[in-house]
Amino acid sequence: MAAGATISVKGLAHAFRSGSGSVSALDGVDLEVPAGGYASLMGSSGAGKSTLLAILGGLEPPQRGSVVVGDTDLSRLRGDGLARYRRSTVGFVFQHFGLIGTLSALENVELATILTRLPRPARRARTLALLHAVGLGQRTTHKPGELSGGERQRVAIARALANEPRLILADEPTGNLDEASARGVIELLEQLHAERGCTVLVVTHNRAIAGRASQQIALSRGRILAATCHQSGEGRRSG
Ligand SMILES: Nc1ncnc2c1ncn2[C@@H]1O[C@H](COP(=O)(O)OP(=O)(O)O)[C@@H](O)[C@H]1O
Ligand SMILES: [Mg+2]
Repeated sequence: MAAGATISVKGLAHAFRSGSGSVSALDGVDLEVPAGGYASLMGSSGAGKSTLLAILGGLEPPQRGSVVVGDTDLSRLRGDGLARYRRSTVGFVFQHFGLIGTLSALENVELATILTRLPRPARRARTLALLHAVGLGQRTTHKPGELSGGERQRVAIARALANEPRLILADEPTGNLDEASARGVIELLEQLHAERGCTVLVVTHNRAIAGRASQQIALSRGRILAATCHQSGEGRRSG
């Protein structure tokens, strides 16, 4: 797997049109996450967390400021360029899983491997390896409705890994899970981070989860309030 991508954000500002005016979502964000870093992002509802992830993930072009991920300057990309960046670099995990209800766990993950343009047997092999890696080797034929919340999020994490991303962006991945499932999902993300070396940014409202990250970022009203850092791995427990 390719090594993690560095995140470097400078002076990022972003506003949404709303009626006759505009709503400022990000207001001068500076942020550095080293390659292979594991960062948490906290902030109250409306602080701009999802907007920041959407920009880092190439879903929204940055309006003002500079956003560089790995060797890609996102402020220079539009449409197709951003789509290529997403395909090659980013894995998304969402609070509501985003799985297709009529497809099995295997089909949900395999669908994402199509973007890799690997031959079909290689895609099937990668899909099975990923489901195995997230602990769902025995659940491949189950549909989302036949899985627990924690298991659904594991399928979504396997799907996020289908393109071997250098950056994983997880937007409140435990927001819909009970405490035990949430812990399992976070431990899985930490394990995958340690094994694969990808850069991880996790949005959470849970202080304990945020505290496990080697870099903790707080966002308020579109601005970084504080970013603290400690030695990679410190404060976290594997397994
Ligand atoms: N598509 C949109 N259109 C208009 N306003 C938006 C849109 N997305 C987000 N916003 C506004 O931008 C601000 C930040 O939203 P968001 O990034 O979703 O915050 P968070 O994820 O921290 O809750 C909020 O004021 C929100 O209402
Ligand atoms: Mg959000």
